[in-house]
Amino acid sequence: MTIVVLILAYLIGSIPSGLIIGKVFYKTDIREHGSGNLGGTNTFRTLGKKAGMIVTMMDILKGTLATVLPVMLGVDIHPLLAGVFAVLGHMYPVFAGFKGGKAVATSGGLVLGYVPLMFIMVLLVFFICLYITKYVSLSSILTAVFALIYTIIIRDVPLIIVISVLTIFIVYRHRANLVRIKNGTEPKIKWLSKKQI
Ligand code: G3P
Repeated sequence: MTIVVLILAYLIGSIPSGLIIGKVFYKTDIREHGSGNLGGTNTFRTLGKKAGMIVTMMDILKGTLATVLPVMLGVDIHPLLAGVFAVLGHMYPVFAGFKGGKAVATSGGLVLGYVPLMFIMVLLVFFICLYITKYVSLSSILTAVFALIYTIIIRDVPLIIVISVLTIFIVYRHRANLVRIKNGTEPKIKWLSKKQI
């Protein structure tokens, strides 16, 4: 049963929200636009606020659903392990040629499913970083680092291990963004404009 739950978690994470919303409602493959990433940020950038919000929420929910799956199905697996499989699915989705997102929203969903209070803190830190830096990518990395510090403070060992791994994933998946930030070519968020990023 353990393997079934982990496969299910991976499949949930593999649902390519950005691809589905883009293709079904906008006849657009977001992978051919902006950063080419299959995540909420590139959906905001390519398709606007409404689509961006929907995709971001769907990607968060994938992590949350997978994390609560062991409890829902009454299977004795650590919820965080199921959550990590959803993040793997989100990054390497079987339904989209194994080219997925950058682990941020689905990791956030894992946190929401496991420690809801931490999710609120993480969200707050993300928006503060975004307000200051105007870079979604940099804000994502800084928020991951904050999340790691937070887990160390609350001394939840499984969470420390999982957030450490997720932070490595997040930094690794943002390596092209970091190069662009260094070169000054990473797009900044444009507050109050119609296209947000
Ligand atoms: O969550 C992804 C975000 O941090 C960066 O996305 O499209 O700008 O590479 P993008």
